[in-house]
This record gives sequence, C-alpha cells and structure tokens, in this order.
Amino acid sequence: MFITVCGQKGGVAKTCTSIHLASVWDRQGKNVCIIDADKNRSALAYASRGNLPFPVFPVSSAAKASRGADIVITDGQASSDEEELKHLAYGSDLVLIPTTPKARSVELTVELANLLNTLKVNHAVLIVKVDSRKHKAANQAREALQKFGLFVFEGHIPLLSAFDKAEASGRSVDDAVDDYGRADPLRMTGWSAYCSITSQIQCQISKHLSDINKLNNPQRISA
Ligand SMILES: Nc1ncnc2c1ncn2[C@@H]1O[C@H](COP(=O)(O)OP(=O)(O)O)[C@@H](O)[C@H]1O
Ligand SMILES: [Mg+2]
Repeated sequence: MFITVCGQKGGVAKTCTSIHLASVWDRQGKNVCIIDADKNRSALAYASRGNLPFPVFPVSSAAKASRGADIVITDGQASSDEEELKHLAYGSDLVLIPTTPKARSVELTVELANLLNTLKVNHAVLIVKVDSRKHKAANQAREALQKFGLFVFEGHIPLLSAFDKAEASGRSVDDAVDDYGRADPLRMTGWSAYCSITSQIQCQISKHLSDINKLNNPQRISA
C-alpha cells in the first residue's frame, strides 16, 4: 500500500501524520517505512532524535527502501508546483491531505483536491490540530470541504502539546513525556485519534479499489 501525505501549506502536520500512521501500523505488526520527500528532511530529523521502530529513508533510496514493505508512506513537502505534485501523487493508493480548520488551509486543500481529481488520484482529507475549545470551527471546515465533494475522514486529530513533546524526543505521541520524564496525560488521546484514521484509510482504499473494479468490469459484477 502506497500512501502519500502532502499539501500546499507548511506546518499542517504532514510529517507528524506520516510518523503516526507508520507508528500505528508498526504496532499492528505491519512492515512499514517512511520515504522523506521533503527538502527539509523533517521526517529524517524526527527519526534521528529518537529510536522509532520503523525506518525512514531519503527519497533518493525510495525504490530500494520500499522493497518488501507492506506499507510505504511518503512524507511530502508543502508545494503548489503541479509537476512536483504529479510526481509525488502518481502511483499512490491514497493521497492524504492534512488540513487545519483555518480558512486558508481549507481553501488550499480544495485547490489541491481539484488538481488530484484531474489526475484521477484517490485522495482524502484529514482535519488536524483541532483546538478542543474550537470544535465548531472543525465542523464548519468539514462541511465546507464536503460541499466541494471532498472525502473527509471521520473525527479529527486534536491540537495537543503531547505531539510537540513527542517530536522533540523522536518518539510517537503515546510515549510523550515532559522535561522531567513524566508521561503526558493526553498522550493516548492523540494516539487513539491516529489509530482511528489508520483503520479508516484501509477501508477507504478498499472501497476505492472495488469502485474502480466495478467501473472496469460492469458485466462481471451484474452477472
Ligand atoms: N495535532 C497536533 N497538535 C499539536 N501540535 C502538532 C500537531 N501535529 C503537529 N504538531 C506540531 O506542529 C508542527 C508542524 O508539524 P509538521 O508535522 O512538521 O508539519 P508539516 O510537515 O506539515 O510542515 C510541529 O512542531 C509538530 O510537532
Ligand atoms: Mg513536514
């Protein structure tokens, strides 16, 4: 399974999402790896701070790295360059677009989804960094995205300082500790949110593939 995480904006949790999808699947016993396709090498930097249980490779060794992996997650960089996005998106089973509920992030997500539509690449949106006091804004963002025909995953990733703490020590959020080594009280809230997204991703990809099969083989289905 090939998943690409990308978007036209920086700071919308692309790298954090790549790391956590990989962490959840690794915990489930899948052979998973991340390809860091960002010039800033953020995923490689994240991994270098700690001891993640799955490998992160630079894009230059993508072909070799993905051999034998059950799931390959490509962490893309913020870009609106059509050619660059085409290059990233082609061949993916799913392009995952994280967006915050902010208006500009939602607008850019709709633009990117339009481009992916023209490329006929399966894509879906994940709402991230939702402040617990601003659920209304997240619901409004979801409605706006759905109005444009986008598939949006159920639920969202909450805005939690546990994610920052996890990143600082190169761990996944369920292992987040503060400077004194105390476990973050909300770490499992962040972990559960990504667990829910991984199972939704698997369903979304299966449904997409079965829809394509039905389109390609209408007689066999109706027979
Ligand atoms: N759900 C979240 N809650 C709080 N902080 C987050 C969350 N997701 C990501 N972050 C933080 O936001 C910053 C940007 O995230 P990152 O994944 O690097 O974004 P991108 O890859 O899109 O540029 C990082 O410091 C990261 O720890
Ligand atoms: Mg990044």
